[in-house]
Amino acid sequence: MNSKKLKIGVIGCGGIFNGAHIYAYLDNEDVEVVAFCDIVLSKAVSTAKKFGLDESVCYENFEDLLNIEGLDAVDICTPNYLHSVIAVKALEKGINVFCEKPDAVSVKEAQKMQDAAQKSGKVLMVMRNNRYNNYSKFLKQYIADGKMGEIYTARCAWRRRRGIPGKGGWFTTKEQSGGGPLIDLGVHMIDLCIWLMGNPKPVAVSAATYSKFANSDTQADSEHAKFGEAKADGTFDVEDLAMGFIRFDNGCTMQIEFSWASNVEREIHFIELRGTKAGASTDTVDKQFKIFTEENGVTVDVIPNLPKLEGGHKLNLLHFFDVIKNGKKPDFEPIQGVNMVKILEAAYKSAELGEEVKI
Ligand SMILES: NC(=O)c1ccc[n+]([C@@H]2O[C@H](COP(=O)([O-])OP(=O)(O)OC[C@H]3O[C@@H](n4cnc5c(N)ncnc54)[C@H](O)[C@@H]3O)[C@@H](O)[C@H]2O)c1
Repeated sequence: MNSKKLKIGVIGCGGIFNGAHIYAYLDNEDVEVVAFCDIVLSKAVSTAKKFGLDESVCYENFEDLLNIEGLDAVDICTPNYLHSVIAVKALEKGINVFCEKPDAVSVKEAQKMQDAAQKSGKVLMVMRNNRYNNYSKFLKQYIADGKMGEIYTARCAWRRRRGIPGKGGWFTTKEQSGGGPLIDLGVHMIDLCIWLMGNPKPVAVSAATYSKFANSDTQADSEHAKFGEAKADGTFDVEDLAMGFIRFDNGCTMQIEFSWASNVEREIHFIELRGTKAGASTDTVDKQFKIFTEENGVTVDVIPNLPKLEGGHKLNLLHFFDVIKNGKKPDFEPIQGVNMVKILEAAYKSAELGEEVKI
């Protein structure tokens, strides 16, 4: 174990850093946040205060933060369109990068990130917090033990009745977000399924997107709608519902559905995997994770009693620290990010063309 504290710079001191990432740093003897950057300086300063620090370690311009001597890593929590811009510059300076999802807003940008990581030999890790849920960890092992047999199809969704984040702000402005719920929520659930299925390569996507709630001011009923700052009279040029179908090189398929607003009963997110020996599903309404299998000639439903774990965001960041400090093998590889953005980009293209798009 390397006893030197990692020196980290935070870029983007908004909702996700203060609501989730911060718990990986506070009271952590292995790391030290040495600089905070936000284009709104007061946000950097109020975040620094939580660490007992003041404006002397705060920056408005991320390039100034990247010039700090001896920085081991940056944690990027800015709007989506800045992920690759900042990540590439950091990697070129030999700084390890942890970046929020989605990886990037285009395949071209995701590829630049992968190339910069490869060239620098530094770690590039993008947030995949759902891989660190108790049921995800259990399933990964269950599958590795061969208990699900061959997994041949999956279904996942995250649908909200009313839960548009930061309406009018960067979340709903395509140029800054890259898209609506497909890129925002899809990246979580699609990644989880692909990772559990053993990372097959996507080869084709068919999708449809809709935007029906841009002018609705009905109150949100999702706690997740609190992310991002809303802007009256701002832009809303992204979808609010995406439906689709993905094909993989090994014959596996996946049905997907993501909404920020749609007339469904309530918010739900789930994954469902079907294997030849067992199936599995998670259900956020009943808070149940079930395995569907058979024993002695009868079908059996199994509800594992899983331990409660710390938040996935914190566990993902702790893993990143372990990788750069102790050389632990990373759970995430940049190629997975490129493949993820290939799916998202192909889905938007398919929705535009009205036909399946090959990757
Ligand atoms: N993993 C998750 O569960 C999860 C949840 C929410 C958001 N996110 C992701 O986290 C990122 C941030 O989302 P958020 O909800 O915190 O948004 P936010 O708007 O609350 O925070 C973004 C911050 O970045 C700052 N910023 C903008 N441009 C900047 C620049 N050029 N340099 C420095 N700072 C800049 C903004 O002022 C703001 O404080 C997004 O990519 C989003 O997709 C992930």
